[in-house]
Amino acid sequence: MISDFGNEEIEGKVIHKKFKATTQGFEWDSFPMKLYMLGEKLSWSSLQIDFSKDAIDWKNNMKEADKFTVLGTSSFFLAGEECVARDIIPMISAMEELGFIEEAMYLTQFAKEETNHAIGFRRWFEVIGETEKLDYYTKQNEGYRKLFYEIIPTDMKRLYKDPSPENIVKAAISYNLVAEGIGAETGYYSYIKGYQINPVLPGLISMIRLIARDESRHVSFGAYVISLMVSNFGKELYEIYTNYFTQLAPLISQLIEQQRKFLLSPNWREEDKGPLFKYFTSDEGVNDLLSYAQKMFLMRNSLIERSIKMKPEEVRKMGLKELGLEGE
Ligand SMILES: [Fe+2]
Ligand SMILES: [Fe+2]
Repeated sequence: MISDFGNEEIEGKVIHKKFKATTQGFEWDSFPMKLYMLGEKLSWSSLQIDFSKDAIDWKNNMKEADKFTVLGTSSFFLAGEECVARDIIPMISAMEELGFIEEAMYLTQFAKEETNHAIGFRRWFEVIGETEKLDYYTKQNEGYRKLFYEIIPTDMKRLYKDPSPENIVKAAISYNLVAEGIGAETGYYSYIKGYQINPVLPGLISMIRLIARDESRHVSFGAYVISLMVSNFGKELYEIYTNYFTQLAPLISQLIEQQRKFLLSPNWREEDKGPLFKYFTSDEGVNDLLSYAQKMFLMRNSLIERSIKMKPEEVRKMGLKELGLEGE
């Protein structure tokens, strides 16, 4: 089911073979169109989130080491959201080039959502008054640096030159499955857990809940794209998927371990330590995050394994529930 809506080059000119909208029309029952419609239904603006109570909590209700803990994680998200907003663009181009029109169109909504997340996080930092040297937090963590400063941009921008099925699968792994699927979801989990331990920063938490809802669509799109490539282009892609996913997934546990060392590195006075710092530097807290990351890894993996035996048409018509989403 390789699409015939792509482009061809004739005498140095790029020609759209035909437009989908004016020929057969959009496939409303395709997975990307279903995602698009769900995204429209659940759309929200980070400009409307009220962070005023967060500013008060930051000033009066949090210990220094707890703030350091939250700044660390939130800086990961701030840079990470900018990274994914920037680096989804080549995937849109690759889908369009191959003639997967609904996929390319859905991804424009995806890109807008990442921009909404990046803007929301930056606003939060500005409202609480923390804007100095934020990249100190992101650059010190080797696992983070490797994934967001290097692997994702490399895997994504490679698609400009060569949108091959193999490169598309690799891009969906590092971007959707590892960064969004294991990394970010483990991060959200830590925020929600932190809120249960110490209910401060309500604006940030309400935004995190909305972002997590968007991210579940993004990750399911990544799993869908991998399945689509495997069913269209053959089983050797499944091996590329397993090898690359297994190669990258340990970066997240590396990131979590290194972060604990980083949080413990200042010489904290006992009175500066709050419940968040204590939990996320304890064996219990770190193991909690590691086992959550592991659980996410296995869930994504089984999602793809299941769809590997499907025909391309079946993959493309998959329901939202089959990829773990509500909404149908
Ligand atoms: Fe995001
Ligand atoms: Fe995302």
